Amino acid sequence: MRMSVIGCGYLGATHAACMADLGHEVIGIDVDPAKIEKLNSGEVPFYEPGLDEVLQRALASGRLRFTTSWDEVAQFADAHFLCVGTPQRAGSYAADMQYVDAAIAELAPRLTRPSLVIGKSTVPAGTAARLAEYLEQHAPVRELARLAWNPEFLREGFAVEDTVTPDRLVYGVADEESAAILAKIYEPVTVHGMPVIITTRPTAELVKVAANSFLATKISFINAMAEICEVAGGDVSVLADAIGHDTRIGRRFLNAGVGFGGGCLPKDIRAFQERVGELGVSHAVDFLNDIDAINLRRRQRVVDLALASVGGSFAEKTVAVLGAAFKPDSDDVRDSPALDIAASISNAGATVRVYDPKAMDNAALRFPKLDYSPTVADAVSGADVLLHLTEWREFRELDPASLTPLVRNPHIIDGRLCLDPARWRAAGWTYEALGRPTV
Ligand code: UDX
Repeated sequence: MRMSVIGCGYLGATHAACMADLGHEVIGIDVDPAKIEKLNSGEVPFYEPGLDEVLQRALASGRLRFTTSWDEVAQFADAHFLCVGTPQRAGSYAADMQYVDAAIAELAPRLTRPSLVIGKSTVPAGTAARLAEYLEQHAPVRELARLAWNPEFLREGFAVEDTVTPDRLVYGVADEESAAILAKIYEPVTVHGMPVIITTRPTAELVKVAANSFLATKISFINAMAEICEVAGGDVSVLADAIGHDTRIGRRFLNAGVGFGGGCLPKDIRAFQERVGELGVSHAVDFLNDIDAINLRRRQRVVDLALASVGGSFAEKTVAVLGAAFKPDSDDVRDSPALDIAASISNAGATVRVYDPKAMDNAALRFPKLDYSPTVADAVSGADVLLHLTEWREFRELDPASLTPLVRNPHIIDGRLCLDPARWRAAGWTYEALGRPTV
């Protein structure tokens, strides 16, 4: 099939490359010419394991190209995947819909033959109905410009895997033709036998925000338990293992630490609260306020522990931070707990030295005031305290004994609870972690 992918960020670039790799004819469009140039030359403009190969293979097949021209997109494709961002609106909890609306405004007047627009972006409930009406009013083909909602659940770091072999596919449709087109598009994926849920457009919109709210709740639940462990002398990691053996609970997404960040979970639970409020039932998701608050409290807890470890003042102190990305195997620093903590400590007067295997450039763009070190050894040199805030494999495999002679004070705060306390203590370090006994 001939399809377009509108918006070539983490979601769109991956979707375009994977769809072409699966055999479709794909054109990707983005407003950023530099991004389009990179993609056309086979370069992924962000770090995503495995995506380079898929992109290069798809380009070489001749089935994939990228453009900035809406005319080209409308002439070429019969199906249009909407993959633009819906970030948090400045000064509000609501989703900023300007990129979605701008894309539809460009596309609609160019739809001169029967087309299916397929929304993948995470949007407030009711968006699909609004966009469908807009298409019907502004597309020359009128009601033959159809609209479906097909939410995306991809995780950064596993984007290719999640696109090619997703846990499930959800088709939110208003007519059978749209469901049939989606079935045809995803045939190379569904041959593997994953569940397909065909439902209404509002349900499909809600599935996505419900899933992200549930995941955020699971993380904040275990982080709330970590707060309690800290005062009751418990170990939240052991607690998570123990409750996780109950298959009704499950161990996945129960890793306590500095909490969730990234371009999705934080802004999605806020936009959900905003939209649910507009729908008049805000009490239904009042609990998400607490989920957000627990999450942000964990960041402050690391700042407080670091401050206590250096004797109550950051003046003249050096703090080493391992990790800038919001999670490992990503260079994404949007709402990253690690960077947020680093910036707070820097603002409080410390010299903060940050090292991350992949996210340094993005971090420096966002927080140019922090010192960025080319290696772990450089970051920890002369440090009064070391913070482990993103669980990259490189950090888990560090030999603490090799770092002891480099620091001013061997004190580590493990914000991801995945270092081995015994090893660090044996190498002369004071090891502290969120939700774990200090000794
Ligand atoms: C998330 C959803 O998982 C995905 O389905 C959706 O499409 C987009 O949002 P992503 O943002 O890539 O994906 O990251 P995810 O792996 O979900 O992690 C989110 C955050 O939660 C990270 O900051 C991670 O460090 C944190 N996290 C995750 C925890 O703190 N503990 C855990 O147990 C799991």
